[in-house]
Amino acid sequence: MKKNIESILTESRSFPPSDSFTAAARLKPVDLDALYKQAETDYEGFWAERAQEELHWATPFSKTLDESNAPNYAWFTDGQLNVSENCLDVHIAEHGNKPAIIFEGEQGDRKTLSYSELLTEVSRFANALKAQGIEAGDRVVIYMPMTPEAVIAMQACARIGAVHSVVFGGFSANALRDRIIDAAAKMVITADGAHRGGSIVELKQATDTALSDACDSIERVIVLKCTGHEISMTAGRDIWWQDAIADQADICMPGPVAAEHPLFLLYTSGSTGKPKGVQHASAGYLLHAKLTSKWVFDLNDQDVFWCTADVGWITGHTYVAYGPLAAGATIVIYEGAPTYPDAGRFWKICQELGVTIFYTAPTAIRALMKFGDDVPNAYDLSKIRLLGTVGEPINPEAWMWYHRVIGQERCPIVDTWWQTETGGAMMAPIPGVTATKPGSCTRPLPGIAADIVDEEGAPIKGDDAGGYLVITKPWPAMLRTIWGDNKRYIETYWQKFQNRYYVAGDSAHRDGDGCYWIMGRIDDVVNVSGHRLGTMEVESALVAHKRVVEAAVVSRPHDIKGESIFAYVVFQGDRPTGDEAEQLTKELRNWVADQVGAIAKPDDIRFTDNLPKTRSGKIMRRLLRAIARDEEITQDTSTLENEAILDQLRGKA
Ligand code: PRX
Repeated sequence: MKKNIESILTESRSFPPSDSFTAAARLKPVDLDALYKQAETDYEGFWAERAQEELHWATPFSKTLDESNAPNYAWFTDGQLNVSENCLDVHIAEHGNKPAIIFEGEQGDRKTLSYSELLTEVSRFANALKAQGIEAGDRVVIYMPMTPEAVIAMQACARIGAVHSVVFGGFSANALRDRIIDAAAKMVITADGAHRGGSIVELKQATDTALSDACDSIERVIVLKCTGHEISMTAGRDIWWQDAIADQADICMPGPVAAEHPLFLLYTSGSTGKPKGVQHASAGYLLHAKLTSKWVFDLNDQDVFWCTADVGWITGHTYVAYGPLAAGATIVIYEGAPTYPDAGRFWKICQELGVTIFYTAPTAIRALMKFGDDVPNAYDLSKIRLLGTVGEPINPEAWMWYHRVIGQERCPIVDTWWQTETGGAMMAPIPGVTATKPGSCTRPLPGIAADIVDEEGAPIKGDDAGGYLVITKPWPAMLRTIWGDNKRYIETYWQKFQNRYYVAGDSAHRDGDGCYWIMGRIDDVVNVSGHRLGTMEVESALVAHKRVVEAAVVSRPHDIKGESIFAYVVFQGDRPTGDEAEQLTKELRNWVADQVGAIAKPDDIRFTDNLPKTRSGKIMRRLLRAIARDEEITQDTSTLENEAILDQLRGKA
């Protein structure tokens, strides 16, 4: 990572959009200037006008921003609307036959749903949810493959005011159970299985395991038939999706909810072991999702937009399930792995489905880059006009490959910085206006007030400012709280600077042109393949193993994943070495996969007699990080009780 940061900091290339891109773009330089000016002179007026222009309100709002419970801000509080109506019904009169979703399964099966068809499916499923006892405000866990039905389930919840909590299909039964319990969910929507990399992910089996232990709040499980393989159904609790919708009407009137009504929870990792249920509100979130889909991705009526993120992550919420649909776009959904059956799959899909805007993560770009230029060069990518990245800093080398080979030097690249908590893109180029730079997310969007501050919270002025990235004004799509734990909300995001700013948890640098460069996390969070994992979460999983006494987890740079997990483990009894250590490493990796999910598997495990600690008993993580990264140790190690431990930590003893 250090190397990446250094190379990012010496990066001086700049790529302005072509005249032809700008001429056809939704936002031109004058439009963007006007938006910035308005947001600067009349912040609330700016957001009120956007909300009136972009959203269909059942009851218009009269108040824009309510700061009375800061930092629990609220937006458009006396307004009412329905999110699903804003994504579907509003398009039917003019664009009912336009494809909303083009789906490709991993096995090659395809399905297209027009806006009218999608509305019918969503309505029938919403009626099914009601028939199964789901009411507004109930929490519904969605644990599904990446299929249109995942989006249908989310939209159906929104239609009746139920609060969804999507759990990524790659998470384990244990992780699923924790999230069900925390949200006190009433229902799980899942599938028999998911296709992934040529095999089947046993979603129903994992659901059964999760529900076998302390998930008393769950009354129903709806199961989509997806793989068709044999699974068991629990009588009285489980019902097939097809049976649930069989007798349901095609029409379900969208029920208006208050602007602040929770739309969804999405659990994300933080510095402690327990994932946080990030809670988003309906109107503000939708506004930002729709606006940024239009501004950043320049969506127009002919576009075929493919965001490769799974709905289990925030990107799959904002730029698959909500934003582009609210903007009336055609989206692509692909079920499976990027390299199945070979490394050309993404490019084949782009060619065959006529993708015009492609949005993915740096880790996927790096992984695909490894297979060489010939793979993408074998496909016709000429329809692509815009590329995007998200999830972690992109190294200039991967950026340039993306630009040259996938974008054929024709397509702007929008590097979008944002978080689960921010709801939508916060900093990103406007493709028809902004000159992009490899590795920079460029500038805050209109209506977003970002800054860089020092340890005391003082803004760092001038060129080359580096420090804490903060957002200095509330914005409509911000998280509202942590589900069931408002104290943690305040402590995590606001307390550091006395509630003055939202603290993103990233460090960043701003160059002389006012462009931002994200340096990475300042807390104990690892970014593995663009997915956030708390080191504490992995540590808790490790120490839950009956023979592990203590564990410390740090990250190290990884060519493809960005960062990988490195665990130091103290084992009961004698320190394992040789074959035994190898065997136990395997066991612990599988154990972590079981506790959290395969993405949390440590790449490296090192056994040690004890962990290096400060006098006050804190684990010396900086030291462990330096060792994991083969860096020079700059810390004082004289307080170590057992200096010989250093050789063990280095793997030399
Ligand atoms: O560290 C930043 C990194 O991902 C974190 C947010 O992770 P998550 O909530 O899982 O959301 C990812 C998708 C929005 C951030 O705190 N990150 C996200 N986008 C970028 C990024 N780092 C650098 N550049 C980005 N474009």
